[in-house]
Amino acid sequence: MKAKTIFFCQHCGAQSPKWIGKCPSCNEWNTYVEELVQKNEPGMAQALFQTSFNKKSSEAVLIHEIGEQSENRVIIQDKELSRVLGGGIVPGSMVLFGGEPGIGKSTLMLQVALQEKNLKVLYISGEESEQQIKMRATRIGLQNKQCYIYTETSTHSIIAKADQIKPDIIVVDSIQTLYSPVLESSAGSVSQIRQCSAELMKLAKESAVPIFLIGHITKDGSLAGPKVLEHIVDTVLQFEGERNHVYRLLRTTKNRFGSTNELGIYEMQGNGLREVNNPSEILITAREDNVSGVTIAATLEGLRPMLIETQALVSTAAYGTPQRSATGYDLRRLNMLLAVLEKRCGFRLGIKDVFLNIAGGLKVEDPAIDLALVCAILSSNEDIAIDHKICFAGEVGLSGEIRPVTRIEQRIAEAERLGFEQIYISKFSKFKAPSDISKIEIIQVSKIQDTFSLLFG
Ligand code: TYD
Ligand code: MG
Repeated sequence: MKAKTIFFCQHCGAQSPKWIGKCPSCNEWNTYVEELVQKNEPGMAQALFQTSFNKKSSEAVLIHEIGEQSENRVIIQDKELSRVLGGGIVPGSMVLFGGEPGIGKSTLMLQVALQEKNLKVLYISGEESEQQIKMRATRIGLQNKQCYIYTETSTHSIIAKADQIKPDIIVVDSIQTLYSPVLESSAGSVSQIRQCSAELMKLAKESAVPIFLIGHITKDGSLAGPKVLEHIVDTVLQFEGERNHVYRLLRTTKNRFGSTNELGIYEMQGNGLREVNNPSEILITAREDNVSGVTIAATLEGLRPMLIETQALVSTAAYGTPQRSATGYDLRRLNMLLAVLEKRCGFRLGIKDVFLNIAGGLKVEDPAIDLALVCAILSSNEDIAIDHKICFAGEVGLSGEIRPVTRIEQRIAEAERLGFEQIYISKFSKFKAPSDISKIEIIQVSKIQDTFSLLFG
């Protein structure tokens, strides 16, 4: 006998015993999802959890009576992943690791599994055969004597196996291939994904074993699966990058145990993913002569300073309406910067096409990049190059003022370390020049006009 299920509208919550395309109560299309109402054998799924994992009490406790527990994070070798997670893996946490097919999710997870020689890892694969995984492991060239591969897709078998092996970390590749025997719908459907992740979440919380769930996302995000999951899991990691480029970016969009600002960078090589611990070096193009329209911004991603090349191209609009486009930067913010340049500083950019590009396929949200962008635009407009030994860190306000940005000392120190000769920052920045900063010249500006006359005379 199968479990009793009912279809719910995800939009308004209306119910129906069978699937319908258009919700009769809210008129939305394609919103019905099958939900489990009652399990066929109530004791069965529960029994699987109760085995040897300790049960938590269901009593309410007073908050001041809860003993403080120092967070016992599992420290891992991979520094990029560790930092993005907020400093190691939290026991019992469930991490969704999403990304487009082929981006390198399986590679990264297998690599992490093989790197942790002191940890017992259970790597569950519903996508590839043992042989395929073995081939990848050979390619990565690492060995972990305690790494178990289990090719299975039923959650109940997986939970039973986890109970038997008692691993320190579980990796599931991928959540879309799992199915729970209590539901009739096929693997990969929204209800299966939700049910499977709920069962695994229970396993994670009761056994304190961290679980990584790999999930595929298509470019337009059309696959509903991972979206449903985002609410359930503790942390959502995203693996991004252009498939034809070698760099891969690891971000968090949700993290219950750390900041969501951290960024990890990897390079896909023939033998797995290499951690890029010093991103500034790859984000600045090595060049000898100066080109107009190119500037370097001293930005921060999370706590890590990063010098990034920004490029602007300003040209007279060929057809009536000028075009504005920005890659890696908010277009509305670009329009705001252009309006400030036009209205407050008198540059006639209204009739020009303006194109912006941020190197390395990065998306930058740090407002400190504004000053570098404005200078790149002006440099392209004047067709005068800015020396490539100069960098910038400042936010631009609506009246054309240069505003201070956070952690300026760290940005200056990184610029100094990379051999920059000058850094332009806000006059209003409050900072203590670190004593070991000797070579770099700090130029403090209060307005775009000051900056313009200093740079272009
Ligand atoms: P994969 O981890 O299978 O992607 P996902 O699990 O996200 O679908 O990675 C697939 C790509 O990575 C594939 O095109 C081959 C490439 N690759 C390397 O370039 N070097 C390597 O060492 C490995 C293992 C894969
Ligand atoms: Mg894969």
